[in-house]
Amino acid sequence: MTDGIIVVGAGGHAKVCIELLEANNEHVAYCVGGQDSPNECVGIPVLKGDENLERLRDAGYSRIFVAIGSNPLRQRLAATAIELGFRLVNAISPQAIISPTARLGTGIAVMAGATINAEATIADLAIINTGATVDHDCKIGHAAHIAPQCGLAGGVTVGALSFLGIGSKVIPEITIGDHVTVGAGGVVISNIGHGATAVGMPARVIK
Ligand SMILES: CC(C)(COP(=O)(O)OP(=O)(O)OC[C@H]1O[C@@H](n2cnc3c(N)ncnc32)[C@H](O)[C@@H]1OP(=O)(O)O)[C@@H](O)C(=O)NCCC(=O)NCCS
Repeated sequence: MTDGIIVVGAGGHAKVCIELLEANNEHVAYCVGGQDSPNECVGIPVLKGDENLERLRDAGYSRIFVAIGSNPLRQRLAATAIELGFRLVNAISPQAIISPTARLGTGIAVMAGATINAEATIADLAIINTGATVDHDCKIGHAAHIAPQCGLAGGVTVGALSFLGIGSKVIPEITIGDHVTVGAGGVVISNIGHGATAVGMPARVIK
C-alpha cells in the first residue's frame, strides 16, 4: 500500500504526529529513524537509517512527514526528502481550532488544543504544539517551534528556526528574530534579535 505516509523520526514527537495523522484517517506505513531507534513507534515499524528513504521512494511512496523536534534537523531532513521527490504533508489535529483565513504551509504539525486565529501565517515545517495559541496576524517562520501552552498575542512575528519554550507568552506586535530560543515560561515584552536566548519574566537576553 504505497499511498501510506512515511514518517521521519521515531521519538516522542513522532509518536504524537503519527497519532495526529491517524486521527485524520491516514495510514502511516513506516517510520524512518536513526540506528538507535526502537523497532516500532506507536505500532508503526521503524526502518533504521536515512538510506531507507531512497528505497521507499523507489517502492512508490510519495508522501512524507518529518516528525523531528529539533528545528535545524527537521529542516535538513525535509530538504533531503524533497530532493528525493517526496511531498510533505501536514499533521493537524482534528482538535485544533484553525481560522479559515489562516495561511498554512506544508510539513507543519498542529497539535490538539492549539488555536490559530484570523490571518495568521504558519510557514513550512513549523510546529504549533499542544494547547498553544497563535492569535490574529501572527507570522510563524520556517521550521519554528511554538511549544505546548505558549500564548502569542496578535501581530507577533517569530523568525525562522526559532523555538519558544513551553508556556512562554508574547505581548502584541513583538518581533522575535531567526534562531531565537525563549526559555520555558518566558514572557516576551520587547523585540528579540536574531540568534538570542532569552529567559524569564520579563524575558531578558542571556546569550
Ligand atoms: C532556555 C533554555 C533553552 C536554556 O538552556 P541552557 O542553554 O542549557 O541554559 P542553562 O540551563 O545553562 O541556564 C542558563 C541560565 O538561565 C537560567 N534559565 C534557564 N532556563 C530558564 C527559564 N526557562 N526561565 C528562567 N531562567 C532560566 C538558568 O537558571 C541559568 O541561570 P544562571 O546562569 O543564573 O544559573 C532551557 O532552560 C529551557 O527553558 N528550555 C525549554 C524547553 C522546553 O520548553 N521544551 C518543550 C519541548 S516541547
